[in-house]
Amino acid sequence: MIDLGPLGRHMPTFEPGSVWLVGAGPGDPGLLTARAIHALGTADVLVYDALVSPAILELVRQGAELEYAGKRGGKPSAKQRDIIDRLIELARQGKRVLRLKGGDPFVFGRGGEEALALHAAGVPFHVVPGITSGLGGLAAAGIPATTRDTNQAIILMTGHYAMQGPEAIDWAAFARTGVPLVLYMAMNNLAPITEELMRAGMAADTPVAFVNKATTAEQRVLVSTLGAAVADVEKAGIEAPAITVIGSIVPVRAALGYPDASV
Ligand SMILES: C[S@@+](CC[C@H](N)C(=O)[O-])C[C@H]1O[C@@H](n2cnc3c(N)ncnc32)[C@H](O)[C@@H]1O
Repeated sequence: MIDLGPLGRHMPTFEPGSVWLVGAGPGDPGLLTARAIHALGTADVLVYDALVSPAILELVRQGAELEYAGKRGGKPSAKQRDIIDRLIELARQGKRVLRLKGGDPFVFGRGGEEALALHAAGVPFHVVPGITSGLGGLAAAGIPATTRDTNQAIILMTGHYAMQGPEAIDWAAFARTGVPLVLYMAMNNLAPITEELMRAGMAADTPVAFVNKATTAEQRVLVSTLGAAVADVEKAGIEAPAITVIGSIVPVRAALGYPDASV
């Protein structure tokens, strides 16, 4: 168990029979919050997702049970309802249940649905925020989410359309804002997304960056344009997990002296 020193005084009690929904951050264990480390050192059972790195799982208390609840190696993912039922079952057994998710649990991670279900079942829960990959990944790539010269707002959105086609999204509305777009889970839909944005009036030379495996030892950054993104991503072999960022903040990376990351 990691000694949190004087920070330990600020940690709430992880009560038996409760579930903590905890964000593990984008990957680097050094980006865990003190409260996430406290939860790892106290939990009886850890239910974790695919994007939680092995180096973080190693920090769990010795003797804690580990249950995998994510998608891996093409195998079907555990059904969300099954995961929720399992969390409730474990809590009702009187365990301290740590539900560990990549990034922040309430950002595109189904943490909201899990919290709602726990609340409905009368199971006490506690939410521990984490650094979301859409912001932490940008910072790690040298791309400020905002600067006063570039943008007054930023849009975090998903590129994964559960049950819907890309045409179900009003891309013109997003393009019109002129605000940088940060897309999670966009790699499988990159072609339709870039096409829709250009059709909506975004210039083909709009800067785009991809941050793959952000904050890990395997982090890669690719800088491209809206028009060339699909070909450049294929050439560079960039795959999920990646954050896609589109707009005026991308060139700030070069202005900060970060190395050229174009193909
Ligand atoms: C199901 S969402 C979970 C998001 C998470 N809750 C968060 O706040 O970062 C998964 C997507 O997050 C992004 N992602 C998560 N970790 C990442 C990382 N280390 N590098 C780049 N993208 C990451 C990718 O877009 C990935 O497809």
